[in-house]
Amino acid sequence: MSLVSAQHTRVLSGMRPTGRLHLGHYHGVLKNWVALQERHESLFFVADWHALTTHYEDPSIIKESIWEMVIDWLAAGVDPDKSTLFIQSQVPEHAELHLLLSMITPLSWLERVPSYKDQQEKLKEKDLATYGFLGYPLLQSADILIYRAGQVPVGEDQVAHIEITREVARRFNRLYGREPDFEERVIEAKKKMGKKAAKSFDRMSRAYQEQGDHEALIAAKALLDDQQNISNVERERLLGYLEGGGRIILVEPQSLLTKASKMPGLDGQKMSKSYHNTIALRDSPDQVEKMLRTMPTDTNRVRLTDPGDPARCPVWQFHEVYSDEKTKAWAAEGCKTAGIGCIDCKKPIIDAVIAELEPMQARVKDYQQQPELVREIIEQGNRQARIIAQQTMQEVRQVMSLDL
Ligand code: TRP
Ligand code: SF4
Repeated sequence: MSLVSAQHTRVLSGMRPTGRLHLGHYHGVLKNWVALQERHESLFFVADWHALTTHYEDPSIIKESIWEMVIDWLAAGVDPDKSTLFIQSQVPEHAELHLLLSMITPLSWLERVPSYKDQQEKLKEKDLATYGFLGYPLLQSADILIYRAGQVPVGEDQVAHIEITREVARRFNRLYGREPDFEERVIEAKKKMGKKAAKSFDRMSRAYQEQGDHEALIAAKALLDDQQNISNVERERLLGYLEGGGRIILVEPQSLLTKASKMPGLDGQKMSKSYHNTIALRDSPDQVEKMLRTMPTDTNRVRLTDPGDPARCPVWQFHEVYSDEKTKAWAAEGCKTAGIGCIDCKKPIIDAVIAELEPMQARVKDYQQQPELVREIIEQGNRQARIIAQQTMQEVRQVMSLDL
């Protein structure tokens, strides 16, 4: 893939290692990652520093969770041949960028991120009036910007963090992207493209800037992609010029909103550790069966002969995820007419969940028997990630006059 578009469609996402993964993670996040790695250059990382912002009193949980979480990713189909898997703290450049971004980030931007106050409220038992916790979204910005990721798959709760990332990138580019001799350098770069291409480029950038012609913008970007004679820095400079700003040093990412996971918990609320309603990816078939058998149903069905209403039953939501039309019709009909019991109704779900987990658990066992393989995958990912991160940091240091 060409350079400009490869960078701008690069996918990056992270997950905090704070405990066991469950079906909510699988349906809401991991399946999405597995699909994305087929179409995009993808980086997925363990956000252990982010975990530390809330778990600084008991960090040992983080260390345990890291390796088990990576194993769960691999077992779920995240493929180290297709995507880069790494650990945040093993790429210390994230911390350097976080520090440098902290110089230009107004406090009010961080204070007004909704998750800041919400989480402090929610996790009252923890003292989250810390510098690190306030900086949580900015650390996330550094994670994203250091890879110039164009797309960040996240859930609804993270959208504000992507938004602040865009604002920080814009501010950074405005402050440091305008080189004193920007115009001359643009002319230099255009010369290297050759007369014909330079002329088309000018025509298209005028069409975009003067008439807001988006097709022209796309065509001009494609033209830049095709240029063999200009360097990457020049390409970015021309891109910045095209969009009417300075040079783009940090790329504004888009959030790739993952549809709210349909995965219900055992009580019908969203599946989440804090609601204690999860089925873990590592739960045994017996545990799964027991949890589903005892999960609540429509409270109007006290006796087998009482008809029920699927709309009032959390089990029905599991049918929505796991059952085909025929099974759903059978369950709905049987429920409303008291033709089947709740245990009958749950049977196909129990089978489906167990069948879904079985191959994953077999792969978990495989990986657990080869800890050196898992370490090797991560070490290689750490190295690949660092190469990209170091390139960005070189440029960042240079524009911030830190290239001593
Ligand atoms: N804050 C994210 C979460 O809790 C995890 C995360 C950290 C992340 N850094 C990131 C996600 C960068 C996407 C991109 O889910
Ligand atoms: Fe719920 Fe099925 Fe029982 Fe109806 S029959 S109440 S849908 S478990």
